[in-house]
Amino acid sequence: MTKREQILKQFNLQLPVVAAPMFIVSQLDLVKACCESGILGTFPALNNRTTEGFEEWLIQLKASLKEAEAAQGKKLPPYGVNLIVHRTNPRVQADLEVCIRQEVPLIITSLGAVKDLVDAVHSYGGLVFHDVTNKYHAQKAIAAGVDGLVLVSAGAGGHGGTLNPIPFVSEIREIFDGVICLSGCLSSGADVASAMQMGADLAYMGTRFINTQEAVAKDAYQEMIVDSGTGDIVYTAAVSGIPGNYMAPSLLEAGIPREVWGNKAKVNLGEKLNSDAKAWVDLWSAGQGVATIKDVLPTAELIERMKGEFRAAIERQAKWLNF
Ligand SMILES: Cc1cc2nc3c(=O)[nH]c(=O)nc-3n(C[C@H](O)[C@H](O)[C@H](O)COP(=O)(O)O)c2cc1C
Repeated sequence: MTKREQILKQFNLQLPVVAAPMFIVSQLDLVKACCESGILGTFPALNNRTTEGFEEWLIQLKASLKEAEAAQGKKLPPYGVNLIVHRTNPRVQADLEVCIRQEVPLIITSLGAVKDLVDAVHSYGGLVFHDVTNKYHAQKAIAAGVDGLVLVSAGAGGHGGTLNPIPFVSEIREIFDGVICLSGCLSSGADVASAMQMGADLAYMGTRFINTQEAVAKDAYQEMIVDSGTGDIVYTAAVSGIPGNYMAPSLLEAGIPREVWGNKAKVNLGEKLNSDAKAWVDLWSAGQGVATIKDVLPTAELIERMKGEFRAAIERQAKWLNF
C-alpha cells in the first residue's frame, strides 16, 4: 500500500469528503456532526477568539468524538484544524503549539507552507495538508514535505482560485503522489464522484456546509445561498484585498457598488462608501456551487443524501457503458 493509500484508509471515511474550514461558519457542532456521519470535519483555529479558547475547544471535541466512537462502536474519521501561516496572523505560533500539545490529527495550512511546521506535526504522527491555487505554490508545499494538497480551483468559496479543476488536478497529480483534495463548487454526491474521476482523492466542500443547521450562519445568509445562481457570485479583491468569491446581493445591500468590484485593492468601506459592513460578517462569501443548493438541513441528513447520490452517479455511468 502506498503512503497515500495508507492515509486515506486510516481516515475511515464513509464518503470521500472533507467539510472545509470556514471562517465564522465552521465551529464545534459542525465538525462533530461531520465526523459522526463519516466524513472529515475541520475548522479554522481563529474561529475561537483566543488561543486558550481554541485549546478548550480541542479538549471538548476530542472528548465528544471519543464518546461518539464508543456509542457507534467504531472508529470515526479524524478532524482537522486550519492555520493561517502568515505574518498578519500573530497567533500562528501559539496555536501551532496547542495543536502539537493536543495532537491534532490533521493540520491544514493556508498561505505559507513551512518545513519546520510540517516536521513538528509529523513528530507526533499528525498530517499536514496545504491550500494552493497554482502549480508554483504546490511545488513549494511539496518541497516542504506536506502529506496532501488542497487544490483551490475557480469558483470556490472564500479566496477561490482561477484554474479550471480538470487540468489543475492532472497537472499536480503528475508531480505529487500524496493526497489530493479538490476544492471549488462541489455541492452534491454526484459532484464528489466527478472530483474522484478527475483524479482527486477527496472532495473539499465549503459552501454546501454553510446551509446546514449546525453551521454558524445567519438565516438571511442561508436564504441568499438558496436564492443564488452562478451569476450572483462575484470574484473581487474589493472586500479583503485578496480576490475572493462573494454573493453580489450581500455587497449591494452593504452599500458596495458594482463600480468598485473590479478594484485590485481593498476598498475603504467606512471612509469612501460610508458603510459599516464587515467582511465575512455582513459581506457573505460563497462559491459558484450555490447554483444547486436548495435547502438548509441537518448535517447528518445532508451527508446521508450525498452518499446515495455518490453511489447513484457511479452506477448510472456504469449502466450504459459497454466496456
Ligand atoms: C464563508 C467561507 C469562509 C471560508 N474561510 C476559510 C478559512 O478561514 N480558511 C481557509 O483555509 N479556507 C476558508 N474558506 C475556503 C474553504 O475552506 C474551501 O476551500 C472552499 O469553501 C471550497 O469551495 P466551495 O465553497 O465552492 O465548496 C472559506 C470559504 C467560505 C465559503
